[in-house]
Amino acid sequence: MVTILDHPLITHKLTNMRRADTKTKDFRENLDEIASLMAYEIFRDLPTKDVKITTPMGDCVSQEIAQEVVLIPILRAGIGLLEGIRALVPTAKVGFIGMYRNEETLEPVEYFAKFPQGLEESLNLVLDPMLATGGSAIAAINQIKKRGAKNIKLVCLVGAPEGVKAMQEAHPDVDIYLAALDDHLNEIGYIVPGLGDAGDRIFGTK
Ligand code: PRP
Ligand code: URA
Repeated sequence: MVTILDHPLITHKLTNMRRADTKTKDFRENLDEIASLMAYEIFRDLPTKDVKITTPMGDCVSQEIAQEVVLIPILRAGIGLLEGIRALVPTAKVGFIGMYRNEETLEPVEYFAKFPQGLEESLNLVLDPMLATGGSAIAAINQIKKRGAKNIKLVCLVGAPEGVKAMQEAHPDVDIYLAALDDHLNEIGYIVPGLGDAGDRIFGTK
């Protein structure tokens, strides 16, 4: 399943991020806000359980979240989506997977992995702003599945049709959430119109 979360507030903020003259501070702030807005929708189906509580007016049964949430940003750029989601689910655990694209072959290279225990039972959100060829996210999800994860959602900002197709073929069980589905990949594997290199723009490295 692919869900495009094209709410006007999300789209407006994404437009700010796409502009070539948007600087690191504004880029990050808009990404933070989009991450929270996306999370609100992505967690709509989060299971809840009944709990007995006491309000100032007396006892009642209310609901609280019943499933552990694990957020797994793909380093580096995935970190840009982390805090905006964590702000809404502060009890979420965080795992990390380091992955970069070899810019010549476009193949993903893993350089770090550290996950909390219990991925079998938790809802695992893999975070990366860009789904280009899909290679990085597919490789990251392979690793997470090897550690037992079953319930996985992929949260990206911008996707290319090529990356969405590759992800659906490799991991048909993984729901994909995007703020926008863009037109195509260019000859060097960048999303068009996209927003350029997300990691560099988040961390000011270019
Ligand atoms: C970017 C992006 C994704 C990947 C997408 O990371 O954040 O992880 O490219 O491309 P793909 O779908 O073709 O694999 P990059 O390799 O630039 O590393 P960075 O996050 O450290 O900047
Ligand atoms: N990685 C990025 O950061 N941007 C793209 O457009 C493609 C891959």
